[in-house]
Amino acid sequence: MLVTGGAGFIASHIVDLLIEQGNHVAILDNFSTGREEFVNSQAVVYKEDILDDQLTNILLDFNPEVIIHHAAQIDVQTSIKRPAFDAQINVVGTIKLLEACKAARVRKIIYASSAAVYGNPIYLPVDERHPIAPLSFYGVSKHTPEHYLEVFSQQFDLDYTILRYANVYGVRQDPKGEGGVVSMFIDKILGLQQPIIYGDGKQTRDFIYVKDVANANIAALNSGSKGTYNISCNLQTTVNDLLLTISLLYNHKGTPIYKEMRSADIIHSCLDNSAARRDLRWEPLYTLKDGLKETCEYYSHHYANG
Ligand SMILES: NC(=O)c1ccc[n+]([C@@H]2O[C@H](COP(=O)([O-])OP(=O)(O)OC[C@H]3O[C@@H](n4cnc5c(N)ncnc54)[C@H](O)[C@@H]3O)[C@@H](O)[C@H]2O)c1
Repeated sequence: MLVTGGAGFIASHIVDLLIEQGNHVAILDNFSTGREEFVNSQAVVYKEDILDDQLTNILLDFNPEVIIHHAAQIDVQTSIKRPAFDAQINVVGTIKLLEACKAARVRKIIYASSAAVYGNPIYLPVDERHPIAPLSFYGVSKHTPEHYLEVFSQQFDLDYTILRYANVYGVRQDPKGEGGVVSMFIDKILGLQQPIIYGDGKQTRDFIYVKDVANANIAALNSGSKGTYNISCNLQTTVNDLLLTISLLYNHKGTPIYKEMRSADIIHSCLDNSAARRDLRWEPLYTLKDGLKETCEYYSHHYANG
């Protein structure tokens, strides 16, 4: 197995799980946001950019049966400011990876897509047949590769599964990053600062714990052929309630600062996960409270140790 973005938040958990299950694993990462300390010591490491011409040689060298593709530009606001840069990594990078998959006769690719492809829902929960209407270039650049996967699969006999993640949170998420409202709240609380909420906090998100996402990737290794699946808890939580739960875990009594809603922020999000339950025989195992507890313990420990 080869995992792109394997030094990052989500994919480093997938690498750990694959290795725990006895697989020979390589990661390919340019370490732009990924961290050395997240990389499992038993993984083969290719420190490369997915846009690099060496990509095909790397795949021919390691000869993976399956590629799990998570390397991406993940910052929505960066995509708004620099759409060409965003598309270069997320769209062109994925096409180059698919070309390399073809050359190396890879059996299957699992692609990390996003709820951002749906835009503002016209019904809830959002299932996989919901119209695609992204609000950001990030949403566009996560969706476009889905078409390339389909056509590559038709043309060159490459199997694939597309996983559209809801809001992923948990251990190792970068508090400075874009998607990590959980880690940002925790960072502020531990730093004795006021957490910031964009909008009135009544907007909802569907939070899924990173270890449940890692399990979904394992489930997709041998199921979900040519399918697209929401990976979520199918539960709506307001950002205000999220902060309240985290505050209770830390016994924190402060109040948040409310700021203006950012452009391209979705108001409500909740993804129907029944297709993944049926076809991947996967289900989330962590409640929000359990996932938050594990996450808070991790950040407390790291904060205490600098
Ligand atoms: N975090 C979420 O809530 C969420 C939700 C939906 C989808 N996703 C998708 O999941 C995947 C992983 O996201 P994450 O939250 O773990 O982010 P992350 O930034 O922690 O991980 C991305 C990894 O890709 C690497 N990378 C970036 N550009 C690269 C390039 N050009 N070449 C090689 N490596 C490169 C980074 O160094 C990093 O290790 C992404 O594809 C993202 O779009 C994440």
